[in-house]
Amino acid sequence: MKLTNFFDGKWQDIGEEKYTAVLNPASGEQLAEVRMSTKEDVDLAIAAATKAQKKWALVPAPKRADYLYEIGRLMKEKKEHLAQVLTKEMGKVIEEGRGEVQEGIDMAFYMAGEGRRLFGETTPSELADKFAMSVRAPIGVVGLITPWNFPVAIATWKSFPAIVAGNTFIWKPATETPMMAYEMAKIFEEAGLPDGVANIVFGSGSEVGTAMIEHPDVKVISFTGSTETGSKVAELGGRHLKKVSLEMGGKNAVIVMEDADLSLAVEGILWSAFGTAGQRCTACSRVIVHKDVKKELEVKLLEQMEKLTIGDGLDESVKIGPVINKKALDKIHSYIKIGQEEGANLLVGGNVLEEGDLANGNYYAPTLFTDVKPNMRIAQEEIFGPVVSLIEVGSLEEAIEVNNGVKFGLSSSIFSRDVNKVFRAQRDLDTGIVYVNAGTTGAEIHLPFGGTKGTGNGHRDSGVAALDVYTEWKSIYVDFSGKLQRAQIDTE
Ligand code: UN1
Repeated sequence: MKLTNFFDGKWQDIGEEKYTAVLNPASGEQLAEVRMSTKEDVDLAIAAATKAQKKWALVPAPKRADYLYEIGRLMKEKKEHLAQVLTKEMGKVIEEGRGEVQEGIDMAFYMAGEGRRLFGETTPSELADKFAMSVRAPIGVVGLITPWNFPVAIATWKSFPAIVAGNTFIWKPATETPMMAYEMAKIFEEAGLPDGVANIVFGSGSEVGTAMIEHPDVKVISFTGSTETGSKVAELGGRHLKKVSLEMGGKNAVIVMEDADLSLAVEGILWSAFGTAGQRCTACSRVIVHKDVKKELEVKLLEQMEKLTIGDGLDESVKIGPVINKKALDKIHSYIKIGQEEGANLLVGGNVLEEGDLANGNYYAPTLFTDVKPNMRIAQEEIFGPVVSLIEVGSLEEAIEVNNGVKFGLSSSIFSRDVNKVFRAQRDLDTGIVYVNAGTTGAEIHLPFGGTKGTGNGHRDSGVAALDVYTEWKSIYVDFSGKLQRAQIDTE
């Protein structure tokens, strides 16, 4: 199968043809080929999006929302198919694949509801016979750059608020996961979305991403990916005066206090550290544990880690799938040596898995380091794989300090039965998301998603907060006094 671009309501295959293989990370099997587009493709897609946007902005928001209801309905109808494609292409286990598709469905219906809200403010004017209000106005064409780890959910967090607010979009999915974008394009087509509202251009960040960011008709860039690439996006976007929304790395921690329900904490750690093979921005990659329960937690964790089944995510009995590609495998593995050289104690894992059925895929053993010091590289840098570092602390204050002592600030979690500790922690943990008695993952679409410090630049995906990225505030004053009334002056 050859995946071509979708813009102006048509499947496009024009100009120079260059394709690259899409591989199943579980088996190495080639699933498809995807077009590696050029600046010319991007320019044509943006021209289509620009033309369509003028009309789209004039469609009443509840009508725009009707398309989203239909998109949500189609996603629901095709949920199992979408989940299967997702798992084949990205590797996460099928149960998580279904969960991710559900996240997209939830987003469709939630944002469709916004079509009848999109609330602004009506406020009194300081002058008599004058009316004041603010409304959300669409911005224009928005550029979306999305990662491979949540190939459908993150795309919906960005594209659905964008279109309900009256923008059109051009979306560059990750080269590793174009099939999900292809499936979504088919759904957009089937839902009858007007030509040019949803546009997808496949290709590399350096070619397609750069062309999108530099194009004068793209007003907003929303990016999810690494902090390294995000910084470049912000720099280039800044030079072109773009509004740039960034969602980047994490170094998320689960704090386990001495009064925690340890079995529950272990479950939370396993789910958030090893789910999606540790390739979530919200993955737990540090466990900050009180010294009184450190040994017990270690033993319980090791016991449960042994039971994790690893393999092709399509097999319902498998708990952990492969990582995305060989490059990721090498990067993850390089941290084992780094950790050992720093003096951390490798308790389990630390190796590539190649036996039997695993030989052709990209599998890494769930890994646990203990006796990790907060400043070690394995406790500071985002590894993006199934590797966890256990750090011992003596108090809640120290736990919070260790949690905050990294350059990222996406998600954090505390396990404790003490309400005072929990409330102090939720106030003082410097992350955009805090969980109490749950792991670091599990975001719901109607709340803002994003983080502080090196994780973001102040914007949020999902929730109503996402609308702030895709709308411009317009303040409107209507004077019905029939005379000139000067603000701040004619107020007596
Ligand atoms: C991500 O980690 O890249 O937080 C997105 C969660 C998910 C989304 C994670 N629903 O649980």
